[in-house]
Amino acid sequence: MITQDTISKIFDAAKVDEVIGDFVKLRRRGTNLLGLCPFHDEKTPSFSVSPSKGIFKCFGCGKGGNAVNFLMEHEHYTYPEALRYLAKKYNIEIEEKELTEEDKKEESEKDALFLLNSFAQKYFHEKLLESEEGKAIGITYFKERGYDKETIIKFGLGYNPGKWDDFARYALNNGYKKDHLLKSSLAKSKDSQLYDTFRGRVIFPIQNISGRILGFGARTLSSEKKIPKYINSAESEIYKKSKILYGIFFAKSSIVSNDNCYISEGYTDVISLHQAGIENVVASSGTSLTKEQIKLISRYTNNVTLLFDGDPAGIKAAFRGIDLILEEGLNVKIVLFPEGEDPDNYCRNHRAAEVKEFIENNAHDFITFKTNLLLEETGHDPVKKAGLIKEIANSIALIPDNIARSIYIQKCSTLLEIEEKLLYAEINKIRKHKFFKKQQERTQQQNIPEETTETKQFDNEIVSENSVEIKEKELVRIMLAYGDKDIMLDAVNEDNKPVVVPYNVRKIIVEDIENDNIELENTVCNKIFKELKEANDKNEILSEKHFFNHEDEEIKQLTIDLLSSKYNLSKKWESRHNIIVSNEEELLKKIVFEVLYDFKMQKLDKMILDNQKKMKEEAAEESKIEYLKTDKSLKDKRSYFARELSRIVIK
Ligand code: UTP
Ligand code: MN
Repeated sequence: MITQDTISKIFDAAKVDEVIGDFVKLRRRGTNLLGLCPFHDEKTPSFSVSPSKGIFKCFGCGKGGNAVNFLMEHEHYTYPEALRYLAKKYNIEIEEKELTEEDKKEESEKDALFLLNSFAQKYFHEKLLESEEGKAIGITYFKERGYDKETIIKFGLGYNPGKWDDFARYALNNGYKKDHLLKSSLAKSKDSQLYDTFRGRVIFPIQNISGRILGFGARTLSSEKKIPKYINSAESEIYKKSKILYGIFFAKSSIVSNDNCYISEGYTDVISLHQAGIENVVASSGTSLTKEQIKLISRYTNNVTLLFDGDPAGIKAAFRGIDLILEEGLNVKIVLFPEGEDPDNYCRNHRAAEVKEFIENNAHDFITFKTNLLLEETGHDPVKKAGLIKEIANSIALIPDNIARSIYIQKCSTLLEIEEKLLYAEINKIRKHKFFKKQQERTQQQNIPEETTETKQFDNEIVSENSVEIKEKELVRIMLAYGDKDIMLDAVNEDNKPVVVPYNVRKIIVEDIENDNIELENTVCNKIFKELKEANDKNEILSEKHFFNHEDEEIKQLTIDLLSSKYNLSKKWESRHNIIVSNEEELLKKIVFEVLYDFKMQKLDKMILDNQKKMKEEAAEESKIEYLKTDKSLKDKRSYFARELSRIVIK
């Protein structure tokens, strides 16, 4: 393991413009550098690199991060791989933490399995290409399936002849251990004699992201129904079915450049599509996707398209699994192949261009697809329709993004011929229920009181458009960008004389918000605010860099999004208000208070609404008075800030 010390050294040395400059042509534009984004297709540059902040950001596709993130994204390195690359580039010696005996054993165990797999792959591949049986049976089979030589070589396909223990013996003779042959399930043992697991089968090696071989799938050539069509490697230290996507190594760069991942069912679909020039495709290997597999895909894209053979029953069985993808925030489309054909068949019977066209023309977004499919069944039977609405609402409720959710609500209410409001209500009910259940579970686990700020936050999240969050983000942005600057404020000294004193921007905001006892609603904003507050309490300064390189991915991303705004703040502000403020400090002062008061007004608006809502629901007359009092005091506060704001904002 790389030591924290070395990691810090690497981060300090890495110049984002130099690192990216090795891959992207950058031109200086003011303090930043600009180039064509390597992550999406574009003709005018919107990819910006800020050497002073140490980050990049594309205003076209939204990708952003530091030098390490760039390498992970662009070169598909893992975190340690990216660090090693940078260490080499900047001549930094890597210090490794001593692994414990336990760690070492585990590492060497994994390495041994990888080595053995690689040895086995070469053996099977050679047997396919060179041996008589391989040529006569294996190659003939692949040729019949339409695979050309290039494809066979690219995917490293193989064949193991039908003999009893040829491979196992060969491996033992080459110094591989019996224990590892068994653990990798390349061999099995009977009466303490080893024999090959895959015999008389064609073999599909399964690679991980970086191309190392995790295991194998082996297909029988017989059409006998009783024997399993495929035998796969058993679970091992390195072969973990739930984490593997067949084809990811060959597909990853195409997934990035197409910003879409096709998911098929089988090995053969992946290979045939590749041969047809469609490379952004992986296979789930016959089962529905796991959370880990979805996470793996989402490292490369947020869009997935599921390729199904034309069997409606199969699709309906897959609905639950697809919900899991929605829940992870990915956009899901579905392509249905003609009855009885899978992508592999289709490739065999059509030209490459036709396959492409078919997929593009037949990709329907999942929610609409599901709605239509279920509608066909229920027609307008009112009882069934109620069930259908629930079913669709269940799926939509899973989508984490507010905007995406509301788009689907709109679409589906039209399809279902019901009022949008109705669907909204149904979905809010589901989300609320889920939320409270989760909350309850947490309460039970941690023994915390049930009514927490999160409960409130939830209501706000689903009920309104959340303009408060927008203001919060603006506020956090000011704190990040100008937090360490001072502005001059009027005050009185010990003798009650008016004086002007410098005040730190971050301090002003932190203390003001604290004073009003306001908790920020957006969880990420709140995390950042809390950190800034802690630093403030300790009289420390947290630089932008701290947040740009934050270990919490959400914090890092939000900081990047907030601070790499396309326009520089003062220009935006000046043009909006059509005034020129001569002095930078004067401008900052205006901005700080505008943003702060603006945020508070928004917050007060919401509190007023909430209070009125509660008042309506409350039946008891006597408590109405309390609500009215609250209403008045909130409104007073609001008009105070409105007045202050109009003083600041010169229209
Ligand atoms: P399919 O039965 O659709 O296989 O199973 P296929 O890939 O289309 O194979 P061909 O075209 O008949 O040769 C889809 C996937 O499910 C897994 C495999 O990963 C397969 O590619 N599977 C299927 C198994 O692991 N074991 C089996 O017995 C069957
Ligand atoms: Mn098939």
